[in-house]
Amino acid sequence: MDIKKVLVMGAGTMGSGIAQLVAQNGIQAVLVDLRDDILQGALTKVEKGMKKRVEKGKMTEEQVRDIMSRISVTTDMGTAVAGCDFVIEAVLEDVKLKQEVFSKLDALAGEGVILATNTTACSISEIASAVKNPERVIGMHFFNPPVVMKLVEIMPALQTAPETVERTRAFAEVLGKEPVVTVKEGIAGIASRVLAALLNEAVWVLEEGIGTAQDIDRAMKLGANQPMGPLELIDLIGVDIHLAKTETLYSKLGDARYRPCYLLKKMVAAGYLGRKAGKGFYDYSQDPPVPTRL
Ligand SMILES: NC(=O)c1ccc[n+]([C@@H]2O[C@H](COP(=O)([O-])OP(=O)(O)OC[C@H]3O[C@@H](n4cnc5c(N)ncnc54)[C@H](O)[C@@H]3O)[C@@H](O)[C@H]2O)c1
Repeated sequence: MDIKKVLVMGAGTMGSGIAQLVAQNGIQAVLVDLRDDILQGALTKVEKGMKKRVEKGKMTEEQVRDIMSRISVTTDMGTAVAGCDFVIEAVLEDVKLKQEVFSKLDALAGEGVILATNTTACSISEIASAVKNPERVIGMHFFNPPVVMKLVEIMPALQTAPETVERTRAFAEVLGKEPVVTVKEGIAGIASRVLAALLNEAVWVLEEGIGTAQDIDRAMKLGANQPMGPLELIDLIGVDIHLAKTETLYSKLGDARYRPCYLLKKMVAAGYLGRKAGKGFYDYSQDPPVPTRL
């Protein structure tokens, strides 16, 4: 499979990272979003991230220029999709929006072009139901940040053709990733679902007063060989993002393992969103961060 040009829909956290990953692997990336300022912001963010690596001697200025020259941006999906061999959608996590985007993509993308979604927890079969050629729709879930994380979870919808699965797996390998292909579709795939339950449990243990935030994190680092403690990890992901994920899993699976602890709701209401807000389970205004009084 020879992929020369990839359309990335949505230039947010994931879309911009996926475009960088594609360009780093010598493939043209076209980023599409609703407004020029969002697209320019995405380009600046990608370039800034790589310049930091230049300062650390891990990349050259020339490599940065080379990669940036392979990323183009536009608000016009119609023009962008022409000549693309593969599409990765990374717009907001809203199934109706994704269905709308896929229905347009399906009408515009050439025959045989795979339409992949980076959704975390939307039903891929539901997204695929909005298009005329659902056999080319598939889940291709990158992890944040896409340039760093080795895993890509590939999740076929009920309608996905086996050939689409194999071509997507091959493409993930071209991008230097180690794909895991799920046997069938399940809400949030494997890693996100298991992680959500684990992180949730850590918040319950804190809420029940069994251990302090620091001790819960220390216990999981030292006893379960986790590189980061679960509460530190929620702060990194964003308390609001974690809460939204467990709420989705709880409502879709109806399983008590995902029932979000009230503490998470209080924290979001108070603006304790984690690192991005300077405060979550830990207060980042101090170095090293200290546990927040919750
Ligand atoms: N953030 C993560 O850690 C993460 C990890 C894996 C998967 N995901 C999934 O990736 C997807 C994107 O998440 P994100 O964190 O990058 O979101 P984000 O909010 O950072 O970016 C979404 C972008 O989509 C754009 N957009 C909205 N409607 C559009 C349209 N019709 N056409 C083009 N662009 C449109 C928005 O303007 C925004 O820039 C979601 O489905 C999310 O669940 C996120």
